[in-house]
Amino acid sequence: MDLTLIALLLTLLMLPHVHCLLPTRQLYQYPIGTWIENLAIRQNGSLLFTSINAPGELHSLNPFDGTEPVLVASFPGFNTTLGIVETTPDNFYLLADNYSFSGPNAGPQPGSGTVFQVDFANVSSSDGLPTVTKLVNVKEAKEFNGLTAFNDTLLLAADSALGAVWAIDTLSSSAYILSQDPLMTPVGSTDGIKLGVNGIHFRNGSLYFTNTHLFLFAKLDLDSDARPRGPATVVARALEEEGVQTTWDDFTLGYGEVAFVASAGGNAVQAIKWDGSVSNVAGSVNSTLIAQPTSAKFGRTERDSDVLYVTTAGGLGTSVIQGGVPVLVGAQIVAVDLKDHHVF
Ligand SMILES: *[C@@H]1O[C@H](CO)[C@@H](O)[C@H](O)[C@H]1NC(C)=O
Ligand SMILES: *[C@@H]1O[C@H](CO)[C@@H](O)[C@H](O)[C@H]1NC(C)=O
Ligand SMILES: *[C@@H]1O[C@H](CO)[C@@H](O)[C@H](O)[C@H]1NC(C)=O
Ligand SMILES: *[C@@H]1O[C@H](CO)[C@@H](O)[C@H](O)[C@H]1NC(C)=O
Ligand SMILES: *[C@@H]1O[C@H](CO)[C@@H](O)[C@H](O)[C@H]1NC(C)=O
Ligand SMILES: *[C@@H]1O[C@H](CO)[C@@H](O)[C@H](O)[C@H]1NC(C)=O
Ligand SMILES: *[C@@H]1O[C@H](CO)[C@@H](O)[C@H](O)[C@H]1NC(C)=O
Repeated sequence: MDLTLIALLLTLLMLPHVHCLLPTRQLYQYPIGTWIENLAIRQNGSLLFTSINAPGELHSLNPFDGTEPVLVASFPGFNTTLGIVETTPDNFYLLADNYSFSGPNAGPQPGSGTVFQVDFANVSSSDGLPTVTKLVNVKEAKEFNGLTAFNDTLLLAADSALGAVWAIDTLSSSAYILSQDPLMTPVGSTDGIKLGVNGIHFRNGSLYFTNTHLFLFAKLDLDSDARPRGPATVVARALEEEGVQTTWDDFTLGYGEVAFVASAGGNAVQAIKWDGSVSNVAGSVNSTLIAQPTSAKFGRTERDSDVLYVTTAGGLGTSVIQGGVPVLVGAQIVAVDLKDHHVF
């Protein structure tokens, strides 16, 4: 083997942690004061996103043709939409409540947490919009957040203030607490907000979740009846970036043992491996390229299966600081291109 080649290989082996940040492309930006919260992708490639307060409701964006987002479903009496998940093709469920950013009653209005069905497979012929059905109001839920599906009829919903995961049976429209594991507990943060279990995703017998203010990513194994097999275990802990303790919001599971997580405090997408390693893949602490990301999902078509779409809250909840000053931008929809890039 050629000496230069050996030297090159040695150099590559010695730099396992050196990586380049991935290119980002902003698809759309809402006005200042908006918060896009969660994301689902339709089988035809359109993005669906939920929102806290503004713009609210459910919007859809075709990521390919340069058009602006359009309103596709409304939820009268609810000013906030949260976790969203697809169960059967083009049939979605989402969480909604009344949320207040300020005042003595900041947070979700008690008793307002509700599950809706948004069915694009049952489009009303007159306007081409999905059928929206209120499934169940879970009065005891304190703060609905992330949503995932155990199977086609059993949803799992994170409750960030209760520190629990609810199971919601779409057939009987009933709900029960599936787990209130200590790793789901909300603890106090410096800004007074207490967010426990936040993003949740179920795959192959395991429920993965972030706990924002415990700064961790964990997993809870479930049996075939959706009962916990034991206590949850920590998979990884949130990175410190430039001396800043970053926080984790929602995430998506990649191929293999990796998750891509929206790092609110890090203004970045971070990759988590099941061996506990964490790496920044796009964005950075003091940048508004991905300003307070809230969720991430891969494209579903051949054209964009290597594209990670990321939603943001523009720094409305966790400020982006530049030159010591908080900078606010409108909520963003950002595409991160993972094609030909190695994350680790
Ligand atoms: C998906 O279908 C909707 C109609 O339900 C359409 O408005 C939208 O443009 C389609 N998205 C893509 C990416 O083709
Ligand atoms: C949403 O509803 C809550 C409770 O009614 C209220 O405090 C808050 O101001 C509302 N937000 C908006 C943007 O209307
Ligand atoms: C949300 O707040 C509005 C305005 O205060 C109120 O009319 C509505 O009933 C509330 N919805 C729920 C589910 O509590
Ligand atoms: C489609 O939606 C209508 C309400 O608009 C409902 O009555 C009907 O049962 C739904 N069909 C299916 C197959 O879900
Ligand atoms: C699913 O989980 C089982 C049991 O933990 C494991 O043996 C299997 O490799 C997993 N399958 C995939 C596709 O990850
Ligand atoms: C989903 O899982 C629950 C809990 O095990 C079970 O009761 C239900 O029948 C399952 N639904 C489907 C469609 O398999
Ligand atoms: C970068 O962001 C961190 C965390 O928000 C902040 O503490 C720091 O002051 C910022 N740096 C600059 C140069 O603004």
